[in-house]
Amino acid sequence: MAHIRLAVVQDASALLDILKQYIETPITLEYEIPSVADKETQILAFSHDYPFIVIEDDSEVVGYAFAHGDLAQPGLSWNAELRAFIRLNRRGNHYGTAAMNVLMDILRLQNVRNVYSNVTEGNPRSESLHRKLGFNKCGVLHKTGYKNGRWLDVNLLEKRICDEEGTERPAPFVPFSKLDRAEVQKIIDKANEALK
Ligand SMILES: CC(C)(COP(=O)(O)OP(=O)(O)OC[C@H]1O[C@@H](n2cnc3c(N)ncnc32)[C@H](O)[C@@H]1OP(=O)(O)O)[C@@H](O)C(=O)NCCC(=O)NCCS
Repeated sequence: MAHIRLAVVQDASALLDILKQYIETPITLEYEIPSVADKETQILAFSHDYPFIVIEDDSEVVGYAFAHGDLAQPGLSWNAELRAFIRLNRRGNHYGTAAMNVLMDILRLQNVRNVYSNVTEGNPRSESLHRKLGFNKCGVLHKTGYKNGRWLDVNLLEKRICDEEGTERPAPFVPFSKLDRAEVQKIIDKANEALK
């Protein structure tokens, strides 16, 4: 049975196996698979500030998802970009939906207000997933990505994940590492119940 848990550095190889399945496609605009050491560093670095999760079943990691953002500019700290990858032969089992919902629920605890995704043209599954999750298309970067001899559009998708519209100073961004782990686990447990 599949369940979600927080990613650990030991997941790096499995995540690279999944990314390998997409590396020849424009779904990712990376050209080469990073080294295991680089992936380990990324997991550690990203999960300090943002949620980084994996979905696994009894035999293997079947997908992963993470958020990241621009904390160098404090005025942008209430935003995060989301990314998810599910093994090719495990798509269509609602893992992508569950993973994105867990990310957004954790980001709400962090006082994040807006989430974004960049989706390269020609990725109908990702477009459907985001539409279903309530994302709106807010723009297109025309011919901004180059892969496999083609210039590609990247669609920008956004979703507001808080209710407040107030102009007062918002509650500050809380780095993932400062969250109450019990609260995080509650979100993951709820998602895992739904995956059963
Ligand atoms: C996009 C991706 C994450 C979706 O993950 P998934 O686990 O297959 O998605 P889900 O099973 O949760 O399905 C989500 C929705 O996608 C849509 N979908 C499913 N299969 C589809 C298909 N064959 N064609 C088009 N849309 C499809 C449906 O709307 C579905 O919702 P529904 O089943 O309730 O109708 C996965 O295909 C993937 O890893 N793709 C490569 C990486 C990527 O594009 N990531 C995008 C996020 S940054």
